Amino acid sequence: MTTTLIRGRTLSFLRKPDTLDDHAAYAYENDGALLVTDGLIIASGSYAMVKPQAPEGVTEIDHRPHLILPGLIDTHLHFPQMQVIGSYAANLLEWLNTYTFPEECRFVESAHAARIAMHFFDEMIRHGTTTAVAYCSVHKASADAFFAEALRRDMRMVAGKVMMDRNAPQGLLDTPETGYDETRAVIEDWHGKGRNHVAITPRFAITSTPEQMHVTQTLIREFPDLHVQTHLSENRDEIDFTCSLYPDATDYTDVYARYGILGPKTLLGHCIHLSEREMDALSETGSVAVHCPTSNLFLGSGLFPLKHLARRERPVRVSVATDIGGGSSYSMLRTMDEAYKIQQLQGERLNPLESYHMMTRGNAEALSLVDRIGTLDPGSDADFVVLNMAATPAMALKAEVVTSLADELFLLQTMGDDRAIAETYVAGKPVKSSLSSA
Ligand code: GUN
Ligand code: ZN
Repeated sequence: MTTTLIRGRTLSFLRKPDTLDDHAAYAYENDGALLVTDGLIIASGSYAMVKPQAPEGVTEIDHRPHLILPGLIDTHLHFPQMQVIGSYAANLLEWLNTYTFPEECRFVESAHAARIAMHFFDEMIRHGTTTAVAYCSVHKASADAFFAEALRRDMRMVAGKVMMDRNAPQGLLDTPETGYDETRAVIEDWHGKGRNHVAITPRFAITSTPEQMHVTQTLIREFPDLHVQTHLSENRDEIDFTCSLYPDATDYTDVYARYGILGPKTLLGHCIHLSEREMDALSETGSVAVHCPTSNLFLGSGLFPLKHLARRERPVRVSVATDIGGGSSYSMLRTMDEAYKIQQLQGERLNPLESYHMMTRGNAEALSLVDRIGTLDPGSDADFVVLNMAATPAMALKAEVVTSLADELFLLQTMGDDRAIAETYVAGKPVKSSLSSA
């Protein structure tokens, strides 16, 4: 049993903050500490309170003056798209057909999948992301490579073998039967191993036949505790194509509703162009709309109505994500900077407390995993990040005039990226500084 005392300025949210003055929404310690044993936080609070609980001779790591936050959480990204990022396309469907589908075909090769998985986890750690919700490719080999690497690194990850049986190259198609069998095999091989969670993953309605949707429904009935992930209402042409493929459905959301795909463990990527009826359907089922700011801007998909979804009479649960490789940054800090700008363009404000709540506790709640991740509460997994607001010369200069916690958070969000992540802890161990090219 190894115990470590980590000292620094600590910040952890207790609930969603309303305003910038909502100090009761978070716990902040100017001289704080975490006591970590066997991958878990066993005590947290002020250093003066926590230190006496540590065994004599405990190893102590002092990160002052840096800020310690729960590990950042990314609720939607595609691990086989690390070499798709930055592809020059006019819109979603062109981007998928020209770059993304051909690239994902390569993941039939286990060796390729294993190599990219290694890079993927390095990048997560480098950017302070300790939990991510990933799409693998259609190939079981890609899910095997992903989960093997997650297990090796002892990271809490959610991921799924994509199911898709039409409107893509032959090398990227399964069938209703193989999609079902291989998803079951991935669940049996990986769910609950280490900190792995398997998600049922039909890519989106365009690439799944009604027969495959039916099989998805069967899987959800058989494994009701598993996460489910797909895409919804990202792009106008996508919506029109979907409605033509499912002419009996009222709208895009109704396609998923008809197959029992909506629910509190369901994560719906994008959700930009929903009608009020569709928002009601998400609200009633407790489904989560996943905001992917850099992707929505990069692909020109549209402006996510974050504030409207939260404020309406029947609010919709929301989370935030990078959507690599439609997204253009691995960094959740960069992602929240773009989320902020998307709200600015709609005449809305996203305050820094809300942003940091979203990246941590908010995303953990969206995943129904807040008992394990997203806070610094005792009993949680010891996944946390250390942020340095003076990580670059330009940031250090601006930091000279920072006078409040909110200013510091906003500086980190506006100018920060992987360089601002001074350290990433996974299950109590510092892992960023030991990367080969930290
Ligand atoms: N819709 C279906 N597949 C994808 C994907 O890989 N990326 C994005 N952004 N949207 C999708
Ligand atoms: Zn996506």
